[in-house]
Amino acid sequence: MRLIHSVSELRAALAGQRETAFVPTMGNLHAGHIALVEQARASGHPVVASIFVNPLQFGAGEDFQRYPRTLPADCEQLEAAGCDIVFAPDMHEMVPEPQTFQVQPPLACELCGAFRPGHFSGVATVVLKLFNMVQPAVAVFGKKDYQQLFILKGLVRQFNLPIRILEAETTRAADGLALSSRNGYLSAAQREEAPRLVRLLREAAARIGAGERDYAGIEQAASNDLAAHDWQVDYIAVRSQATLLAPSPDTRDLVILAAARLGTTRLIDNIEVCVG
Ligand code: PAJ
Repeated sequence: MRLIHSVSELRAALAGQRETAFVPTMGNLHAGHIALVEQARASGHPVVASIFVNPLQFGAGEDFQRYPRTLPADCEQLEAAGCDIVFAPDMHEMVPEPQTFQVQPPLACELCGAFRPGHFSGVATVVLKLFNMVQPAVAVFGKKDYQQLFILKGLVRQFNLPIRILEAETTRAADGLALSSRNGYLSAAQREEAPRLVRLLREAAARIGAGERDYAGIEQAASNDLAAHDWQVDYIAVRSQATLLAPSPDTRDLVILAAARLGTTRLIDNIEVCVG
């Protein structure tokens, strides 16, 4: 496995290379990321993973400074998972000038975007740059970041990028909590409390599966339960999988998305549910 920091070195390494499968990350890797690398390998292409903590997607007062940076341990995990190239670009090549071109994705102000202004613009911009650098045939993203995946599929479609997006299911701890680099910020007590989020999403999905259609009531009940246990809820929302907008009464493929904070740690999760 090669560790590469500059775009010129990356291009030289990829010259004459077969088509690649690409896994973009911000590092501090856990089993969820490694499952993406395994899915990339299963595509049969050589695997490129990137590690870059992208300042464009963090808002003022968010955790950019304290986001965990663990490159040596990440490289060990990637090597063991069969990754071929780790691309950890230098800041000056990713964010070269104070005034950056930025992609403005649709739905960037919805859901998480309403609470993190500029976040999805920063994500789409950096992923477009990484796509231009790596020029993969395939790229793998997790459903854990459902809105991000939705927006990046739109980016590929609308900018006519010849990249096939593979979607990875959410990897969870035994108690259901979706794995996330941010889980490391939780105290022991908060870590014990954290799986309430997925439990409530599963309950909400079961109610919808059992025929309930009062989505606002379902959202409110989950939100109240979180608030009663000291969470600060950003949103709980039943949406259409196809549009990520509010569903109409005959929408069958739904997703329930949630974002809420335990102390200063913001957790997100989602569950898909299809109604007959
Ligand atoms: P990061 O949070 O490091 O996540 C990298 C990839 O891993 C994303 O596709 C994310 O959805 C996926 N992932 C994270 N936790 C997961 C889990 N528990 N199960 C399945 N997949 C999981 O997402 C980003 O980085 C950045 O926004 C990025 C796309 C790299 C752009 O900067």
